[in-house]
Amino acid sequence: MYNLPKKVKIIDVSPRDGLQNEKQVIDLATKLELIERLGQSGVKNIEVTGFVSPKWVPQLADSSQLCEQLIHHKNINYSALVPNLKGMELAIASGMKEVAVFTAASELFTQKNINCSIDESLERFKPVISLAKEHNIRVRGYVSCVLGCPYEGEINPRKVAEVTKKLFELGCYEVSLGDTIGTGTPLKAQKMLTQCTEIASVETLALHFHNTYGQALANIYACLELGAHIIDASVAGLGGCPYAKGASGNIATEDVVYMLEGMGIETGIDLKKLIQTGQWISQKLNKSNNSHVGKAHS
Ligand code: HMG
Ligand code: MG
Repeated sequence: MYNLPKKVKIIDVSPRDGLQNEKQVIDLATKLELIERLGQSGVKNIEVTGFVSPKWVPQLADSSQLCEQLIHHKNINYSALVPNLKGMELAIASGMKEVAVFTAASELFTQKNINCSIDESLERFKPVISLAKEHNIRVRGYVSCVLGCPYEGEINPRKVAEVTKKLFELGCYEVSLGDTIGTGTPLKAQKMLTQCTEIASVETLALHFHNTYGQALANIYACLELGAHIIDASVAGLGGCPYAKGASGNIATEDVVYMLEGMGIETGIDLKKLIQTGQWISQKLNKSNNSHVGKAHS
């Protein structure tokens, strides 16, 4: 009846997107345990940290130790954010096999987030990606502000597609489309994705939707109908960007898994264990759980 996928790939970004935005700095043991628990819940793709400047994001200052101490399970894909050559060198030294470069469809956000223009960021990624290729490291790309910017407001979907195209040309194998401040609604999300599928296969485009206005699940569903089947999410709905005022958490991984499994779409994730992981990390952070499914089971 509908063009829905049979299987969805989920990337849990909570150790990076979630913990980067916490006021308190989380100890390394808790971060490692979160990653381990996510793996035990059946999550096969985990974004564990960012090799970003500790002056800009002190919460992730332990990225090298974290990656060195991480238990690398063979069936799990671990990745980390890398903004520049310095970050890439640190990621290589820490044994990472996948990294993600990140830019945006908004000039002002790019300036605030990584201190350069969009074009400069893409130039910066050239040597980063060549070095990654030399070391057989896979590179994912992010485009932020695909459905709105905290500084520029509305973003033209054509700009999103243009930046996405450049990331693929530079050598990214997948590009994640970030609704950084969660202002998107379903038809806008479809319009934006449709524009991107004119320059790339939907097989290579991921959805990274923050849930500020409670729209993320509806936006994801709207994009599933167009064939999208790669979803970034964050256990307990942790997340936010320190350089995007008003950005709240990502869509909770539990809520995505509940919706997908309820529609007969395979995720490979054990919902019960995932809910326990969400409850555990929320208690550790001493904050309320943003997952609706998690709340219903507590
Ligand atoms: P800058 O200040 O312009 O960098 O920052 P610089 O090259 O002039 O270097 C300044 C200092 O930082 C130097 O140290 C460098 O060595 C050091 P000093 O000589 O002063 O002692 N440095 C580094 N240290 C460690 N690791 C590095 C690194 N690079 C430089 N990689 C920079 C430019 C890009 C580094 C900075 O702006 C930065 O780190 N930004 C990251 C911001 C960030 O992490 N934002 C959140 C993630 S993005 C996000 O959440 C959106 C997403 O989830 C998708 C969505 O939701 O839309 C992905
Ligand atoms: Mg994000």
